[in-house]
Amino acid sequence: MSVDFRTRVDPDQQPVEAGRFFGEDLPAKLDAHQGLIAPGGNSLRLNDLCIEVEGEPWTLRWHGDRASVEPGNGGAAHVRLTAEQLSDLANDQTTPVAFMSSGTLDMPSGRLADFLDWWLVLRGALDGCRIHAAGDVSLETRVPRSFDVDDSDEDMRAFLEEAGYLHIRGLFSKEEMAAVEADYPKAAPHFEKGDRRAWFATTNDGAEHLVRMEGFDAYSDASVQLIDDDRFQRIGRIPGLGHVQRRKPGARIGALDKPIGVVKGISDVPWHKDCSLGRHSYECCSLTVGISVTGADAESGQLRVVPGSHRALIWPAPCLQPGLDLEPVDLPTETGDVTVHLSCTLHMSQPPVERSRKVLYTGFAQRPVDVAAAEAQRQKLHDVRGKAHTTVSQEPGYLGDPGEQDGASNPSR
Ligand SMILES: [Fe+2]
Repeated sequence: MSVDFRTRVDPDQQPVEAGRFFGEDLPAKLDAHQGLIAPGGNSLRLNDLCIEVEGEPWTLRWHGDRASVEPGNGGAAHVRLTAEQLSDLANDQTTPVAFMSSGTLDMPSGRLADFLDWWLVLRGALDGCRIHAAGDVSLETRVPRSFDVDDSDEDMRAFLEEAGYLHIRGLFSKEEMAAVEADYPKAAPHFEKGDRRAWFATTNDGAEHLVRMEGFDAYSDASVQLIDDDRFQRIGRIPGLGHVQRRKPGARIGALDKPIGVVKGISDVPWHKDCSLGRHSYECCSLTVGISVTGADAESGQLRVVPGSHRALIWPAPCLQPGLDLEPVDLPTETGDVTVHLSCTLHMSQPPVERSRKVLYTGFAQRPVDVAAAEAQRQKLHDVRGKAHTTVSQEPGYLGDPGEQDGASNPSR
């Protein structure tokens, strides 16, 4: 089992023309991969969906075990795309979640859920991936499980490949975390409203808080020392795939300070895969590492993950897919612990209710074949991600349990 899921490289990307795509290419691929689509497709609620591209409508229909594409608008659900959006969607450079997050999702009828269900069918057809069906993913190892620094890389690799995450206890000392925490107030004056590196959120008392500082490492020598230390660099070697710290100096670390009672903006991101905005087939899996500057539990903003979800083609956000048979686990941490999750592992942070939380995020990524081409495409996603806290608000009190009210019911959220 490897965590290298890449099947595309940027230079091979072909432009997509709507007439040919819906009239020829997509029907052929739906046919070719019908066996990968049908088992999971049958458990989705595939309402007829009209995809209108620059005024030209096409309708996707589900017929029990296969999908068809017809010209015209016969959809109960309806999404409008530009030609560029269709091209990026087909080439896995973007997703419906990215449209929602950037405020460009244009659905005159139907819900984001309708688009997401059909997005699974599109990915199944275009990528030749099996849509997740109940029972497809099983775990041999008991979860949750955590590791000590003395545990072997091989044991951690096996668990990471199977479950999609790691919790390593006590990687750093309380003194090291106190030194990082002391840098928070020194860094904060460098992050102003309107700066795309700064995320702000409003709490129920009307106060606005700086909740995320991207590029914290520019102002915190203590944190730079830690991520350059071999105790930390070891994490990039665990998958055995040559992961590197790709971010440039001054943009390597995001420092989060999660207040209690957020009602506007995003501090605690609901269920998502880090590849939920696109580029899964070019980049996954990268590793996201969280360093617990302060500990976290159910009262103080802990991380939750869905073990095994990296191996499942499912909704990548903004909630648990209805009927998903994979169970979330909580990842409470102590000060100095780290968590590692794959870019395809569903995860969320619970809003703190008793104590606020501080955590650093950074990561490791695989080397692209064509660095310049990958960077150009990645920049589009950075733009979406950088704006998300101004276009999307978290649901106050959202705990991420199955069936809970979520953003999939309201495309405009
Ligand atoms: Fe994430």
